[in-house]
This record gives sequence, structure tokens and C-alpha cells, in this order.
Amino acid sequence: MAASAHATSTTDDDADYVAYYNDCMQNPNAFWDQQARQRLQWRQLYDKVADHNLAEGQIRWFTNGKLNVAENCIDRHVESGRGDATALIYEADEPGTTQHITYKELQEQVNRLANVLLQQGVKQGDRVCLYLPMTPYAVYAMLACARIGAIHTLVFAGFSEDALAARISDGDCRVLITADESVRGGKKIPLRQIANDALAQIPGQVRAVLVQERTGKTPPQAYDIKLYEAMAAASPVAESATVDAEDGLFLLYTSGSTGAPKGLLHTSGGYLLYAGYTHEHFFDYKPGDIYACLADVGWITGHTYVVYGPLVNGATTVIFESVPTYPDASRYWEMVERLRINQLYTAPTALRLLMKQGDDFVQKHDRSSLRVLGSVGEPINPEVWRWFHDVVGNKQCRIADTWWQTETGGIMMCPSPLASKEGHKPGAAMHPAVGVVPLLLGTDGQEIKGNDVEGLLCLRDPTPGMARTVFGNHKRFCETYWSHFPGYYFTGDGAKRDSEGHYHITGRVDDVINVSGHRLGTAEVESSLLLHKGVAESAVVGYPHDVKGEGICAYVILRADFEPTGNTAKELKEVVRHHIGAFASPDRVQLVKDLPKTRSGKIMRRILRKIASNQLNELGDLSTLAEPKVVDEIIEGHKEFL
Ligand code: PRX
Repeated sequence: MAASAHATSTTDDDADYVAYYNDCMQNPNAFWDQQARQRLQWRQLYDKVADHNLAEGQIRWFTNGKLNVAENCIDRHVESGRGDATALIYEADEPGTTQHITYKELQEQVNRLANVLLQQGVKQGDRVCLYLPMTPYAVYAMLACARIGAIHTLVFAGFSEDALAARISDGDCRVLITADESVRGGKKIPLRQIANDALAQIPGQVRAVLVQERTGKTPPQAYDIKLYEAMAAASPVAESATVDAEDGLFLLYTSGSTGAPKGLLHTSGGYLLYAGYTHEHFFDYKPGDIYACLADVGWITGHTYVVYGPLVNGATTVIFESVPTYPDASRYWEMVERLRINQLYTAPTALRLLMKQGDDFVQKHDRSSLRVLGSVGEPINPEVWRWFHDVVGNKQCRIADTWWQTETGGIMMCPSPLASKEGHKPGAAMHPAVGVVPLLLGTDGQEIKGNDVEGLLCLRDPTPGMARTVFGNHKRFCETYWSHFPGYYFTGDGAKRDSEGHYHITGRVDDVINVSGHRLGTAEVESSLLLHKGVAESAVVGYPHDVKGEGICAYVILRADFEPTGNTAKELKEVVRHHIGAFASPDRVQLVKDLPKTRSGKIMRRILRKIASNQLNELGDLSTLAEPKVVDEIIEGHKEFL
């Protein structure tokens, strides 16, 4: 593999980079002002860069600025003569099936779909639910909403009918765009059927269902609108709505420690700017590059780094429909060779899976086009980092270990170009992005200063790409993020600042688990288990899993009047699969007589986490338990998993 020309940085001179960074940090608003003027096309320039009131959880960027997101992501490039440049490369599930879509073609398709939505009565500010496979139609649908000023709410196509119904109804969506089936790794998922079951739970909620015929195998329902036909009949020219910088662009649901998933609202101006800036900066994106973020658009990574970041920058972005192991473990690397990919962004869970398959799958393909390798979603284990760097990148690529969240909209920490000088630290996100001021706090809210310390990770200043509210529940937004430590955004993560001032994310400090990079609240899994008639109570915890990062272990107390069978554990897993989705189904179900509780009845999850992780010597103080012998019984039962 030949050495690549740009192995490391966006700025070659380290001193220049430090000066540039410090300069930006002196006055982040001036930096964002300059970026917003340069990067975005405004229909009306904003009158204030930022206007926040953190006591009320109010974040506002570019007040009174007007723009259109689709115009920024498409028309601008077409008008500047780049209409024939490739916008999307669709790498379909079927190996070797690729389609290149130019900016001009993207414009036409988006306009057609925007017109279809208008025909269906969708108005500016309305929410449209998208439950779609990873094909260009998902991108068309997102941008068609942006074109007319509607708010899209994507539901990952691995979610079940219950999860879909809950999101459609919470977002009060009146129109749904779905597909007959999705295809991943050769397996088909009947999206239309699942959507039907979801709609049956919320009669009268949705007035129109547009169906993409991805496989053409499912006969359409009488009331379906066939997407391809409707688009073909619609005009390829559409008006773009003028939206305020602070108008909603999308809702995306994410899990927290308690309650139902929250619909985070991201807005138009600040989000788009942050997506574009971070995409260019952290991936060293240069015009003409072929950039591939392999996430699904159903998650925030797909929103920001498959769609909005690359397209606002006029990049060529890969839409990857398949899975890393289909037809075999060389899929990524064969694709890198064939498409000459320059930046590849994926998740540790995929890398762990691929690393296990051996180096041959990687080495038989030419990866000399690669310059930056990105990782997101969970901590990357140092040995996986080394494999990514040494084997995949042949020691020639920069590793972008990017820490961020659905809430932040874009990357908040990532090793800067300086990391190559200071020494990379495998598994550490290291440096805050411009405008990001991390703080480590103790549980008492006091800041922990200095280096070589650990604490709760908070951020001092809002960045332009951050979510603005929880849809329909601003109080919850304030309580979850802004009231734990007044004046600071609480991330829910713990972090360490090492002796050289570099950051290492240590993981969630709340009851959120990260399963194959998918974020889940343990309370959500527990509520699903309760839907089984035999369940009296349950406690769900995460434990280390060598591929998924965290596995799910459910401790379940059955009702006295329920007689378990050999199938009970399987049924319980099935109930979660049905209620949330396959990725949330517990890896282990342990039936227990009782749970470790304090005298006041609070479940001591800390103890369950230690047992599930097999750290039996680290159970800690058991004296506050109402019934300490419960622990012995659970340890005994745990042996079946060893
Ligand atoms: O715990 C952190 C972990 O993923 C959480 C955010 O999950 P989600 O909102 O689904 O967004 C994932 C994609 C941005 C964080 O609170 N996380 C994300 N990236 C990293 C990470 N943990 C360690 N290192 C990372 N690079």
C-alpha cells in the first residue's frame, strides 16, 4: 500500500495550528460568525450570532437569519457549475451494485419528492416520519422536507412497530414515508408490514403513506401512494421555503436514563453550519474526495456525516446499505479499493467484528486512497484502535476518534492535527473542537481543576449544532441537560483529563447503555419486559461484550402465579425485540427470586452490573441491602452464563 499524501493534518505547521485554535477560542462567536458567512448561503443575514439564556435552556444561534437547508446542500453547488459532480454513491446491499447520483440529479429527485409532499398537504413546520432503508430515497426524503421547511423525523429501520408508533404519535406526524422491504446482508425486513402494524395502534394519526418499492415484493395496500410513480408524475422544479435559522430541521429520538425516548429538535442554521465545519475539519475533507460514513441515516451519525455535513460541503458521500460482513468480511475494504474512498467513518463494534475475522480480508485490497479513519459511538478499545491504525490504515492514516452525542449534533472532541506531534493516545478523543469548553465536575457540582483528574463531563458554552429542545417538552430538556449543574450542559458521560490535559471518555454515568453503538435506556428495556404477562419486576444492566461493546443482561422476577417453562427466557427476549427492536433484545435473561434492594426499596444496579461483568470481588459494600443473601442467589444463577 502506497503512503498517502496527506497522512495527518489540515494545517501542516503545528505552531500555526495552535495560534489558529487559540485565536478561535478567544472569541468563538467571531469564529462562528465568520464561518456562517463563508459556509452558508443566507437569504437574510442574521442580526445576532448567539443569544442564549441557559437558565431557561434557551439556545439561539444566528437570530433572524433566513435560509433554506436544501438550497445550501444542493442548488448552490449546481448553480456554481458543479451539477455534474457526484453527490451520492449508492452502494446497494447486493455486492457490486452501485449507482452514482450527481448534484443535478439529486436536485431533480428532491424537488419531485418535495412536490409530492406539498400535494399531500405537508406545510412548513409539519413533521414527516421517515422509516426507510439506506438508499438515496432516504436522502431525497430528508432534503425534500428541508426544501419545503417540514421537519423530518427518521426512525431507524431496525425499530419495531411499537417504537415506530410511539415516535409517529409523539411527533404528531401526519405523513409517513416508508418502503415495502429493506434489505441488509441479504436479509429482508418487511418495513411496510411493520409500519402497518404501527399505524393500527394509532388510528387516524397518519393521513398518507408513501411507499418506496425497494424490492417490489410486497403488494401495495389500497391506500398506499407509490413513491416512484408519484415522484415521476411530479414536477422536477420546486420552490424552496424560507426558514428561520432557528426553525426545526429534524427530530431524532434518543434514550435517556428514564422515561420514553426524547425527540430532540435540531434547527436549521447552526446545525447545518456545525455539520459542514466539523465534516471538513475533522475528516480533512478536500474537494474531489470520496467520503464514506458507513452509519445508517436513522441515527445522528447518518444525519450529520452521511447527509448534511458532506452535502453542504459539496462532497461525494457514500450511502452504504449493507453490513460489514456481507458477502464476507472484506466488504468495507473491497469497497474502499473500488470506490477509492479517502475517508472512512465507522463504529468500534464493526471494527471489533472485522478484526476477529483476521487481517487477510483487509490486506487483499488496496487501501492506499485512505487518509482519515474515523470512529464514533462508543469508546474504541486500544487494541482495536491499533488494528485500525496499523492494519487498515497501514500506519498512514489519521485516526479520528470522535466523541459526540445525538444532542450535540456534531463532533465535540477529536484528536486535532496536533495529536500526531503530541503522540496519539489510542482510545482517547483528546482535544475539544473550537468553541467546546469541557469541564469535569464532582457530584457536588464543584469543578475539578488541573490534570490527572476524573469527573462528570459537562460543557460550558453551547455550540451551534446542539439540540434546542425536547419536542413538546422543554421542561424535560432543561431538567435532563441544564439543571443538574446550572449554567452547564451535562453530557451524561464521565471523562478523565490526563496529565497532559487530554480527554478520555470513560463512558456513561447514568442508566444508559451502548449496545453496538446503539444507545438504550435500561428503563426502556425494563418497561418492555413488563409487557410479558409473567413479569413482576426486572432490572436491566450492561456488561462488557467483546463485539457489541456492551451486552444486555436482564434480571427478572416472575409473578407468583406464572409458571415458567423452558421457553420463558426466549419469550422475554422476544417481547423486547417486538417492543423496541432486535438490537435491544437482551443477550442474557436470568430469572431471579429477588433483586438487591436498599431498605428503602431502591434496586442497587451497581451490584448487578458487577455480577453481570463477573467482577465478583468488586461488589463493594453490601451492608445497606435489605436482604444481602439475594446477592448469593444471583451469583449462583449467573454461573449458567460462564
Ligand atoms: O457515551 C458516549 C458514547 O455515545 C454516547 C452518545 O450516543 P448517541 O447519542 O447515540 O450518539 C452516538 C453517535 C454520536 C455518548 O454519550 N460515545 C460516542 N462517541 C464516543 C463515545 N464514547 C467514547 N468515545 C467516543 N468516541
